[in-house]
Amino acid sequence: MPAPPSDARAHLGRVLGVETCGADGAILTVRTISELAPIRASRFFMLGRTDGVSPLIPRPFSIYRQRGRDLDFLIKITGRGTRALAGAASGTEIRLTGPLGNGWPTLEADGAPWVFLAGGVGSAPFYLAIEQALAGMDGRGPVPRKHISFLFGAAQADHLYDLEALGDLGVSIHTATDDGSSGFHGTVLGLLDRLQGEGTIAQSIRICACGPEPMLRAVEELARARDVEAYLSLETLMGCGVGICNGCPVPTRPEGPLGEWPNAKCCVEGPVFAADAITLAGVE
Ligand SMILES: Cc1cc2nc3c(=O)[nH]c(=O)nc-3n(C[C@H](O)[C@H](O)[C@H](O)COP(=O)(O)OP(=O)(O)OC[C@H]3O[C@@H](n4cnc5c(N)ncnc54)[C@H](O)[C@@H]3O)c2cc1C
Ligand code: FES
Repeated sequence: MPAPPSDARAHLGRVLGVETCGADGAILTVRTISELAPIRASRFFMLGRTDGVSPLIPRPFSIYRQRGRDLDFLIKITGRGTRALAGAASGTEIRLTGPLGNGWPTLEADGAPWVFLAGGVGSAPFYLAIEQALAGMDGRGPVPRKHISFLFGAAQADHLYDLEALGDLGVSIHTATDDGSSGFHGTVLGLLDRLQGEGTIAQSIRICACGPEPMLRAVEELARARDVEAYLSLETLMGCGVGICNGCPVPTRPEGPLGEWPNAKCCVEGPVFAADAITLAGVE
């Protein structure tokens, strides 16, 4: 059975600062006591305050940025756990368990261009992904800037978190909003269709996607219909984050690489899955 990653540890750190980000988000910076090795994009930590303000069950968050001992987390405030973290004063002690999960596959330069699709706070695993792809991952060559497109969709413009910093990474960024307040009026997949139709993005692409489940379901369907290599980073509810509680099942495709079991555990086998390994859209 899959086990938690061997490099995962319980770390302690202190809040260095919390910066408001968009209408309902925050960037939490935590300085850990010990320095962590470079963390692969789309791996995550279970986070909670140690002063009793956070719920008993810590909450999972993707690593957003890493600068030495300073770890940034992009947090959309949705409930008690996220409010406790976003409301933490400088100096508040945080327990971080991780890094957990697998992270994105090697983002290789060879092959079709990469299209990164983010929905709302699903942008969190992409800042590092872009940095790491541009630097070269796992000993492979750097992905040329022109072979990365970042398509960022949200309900409205002020949910396009940290857009300026993402823009500074120098890859091509296109936005879409449900209300038309920024960029394309519609979904990221509508935007992808438009950009492919006008030739801005090639027909043959590889996709990494993170966002709300309906969006990921649509990406899974697109990948299957058009035979596109695609990876989905899921934000399933989690209890333990380390494979013990069975609280994060993801239905597998019987004919796929994980099909020996009806469900995979998102925390230890994900959160990134190849679209042909799981099914959010249901098995036909
Ligand atoms: C791998 C991963 C990465 C993520 N990365 C990010 C990120 O970078 N940024 C971000 O903003 N969000 C991220 N999320 C989502 C984030 O974890 C949730 O938004 C957060 O847990 C919400 O917590 P809350 O207490 O504020 O919200 P609440 O709405 O209070 O909690 C969520 C709801 O689920 C319930 N619940 C919570 N945990 C459980 C459980 N284990 N079993 C049953 N019910 C439960 C709560 O009681 C509540 O009803 C990620 C999720 C995953 C799995
Ligand atoms: S969150 Fe407990 S098994 Fe995955």
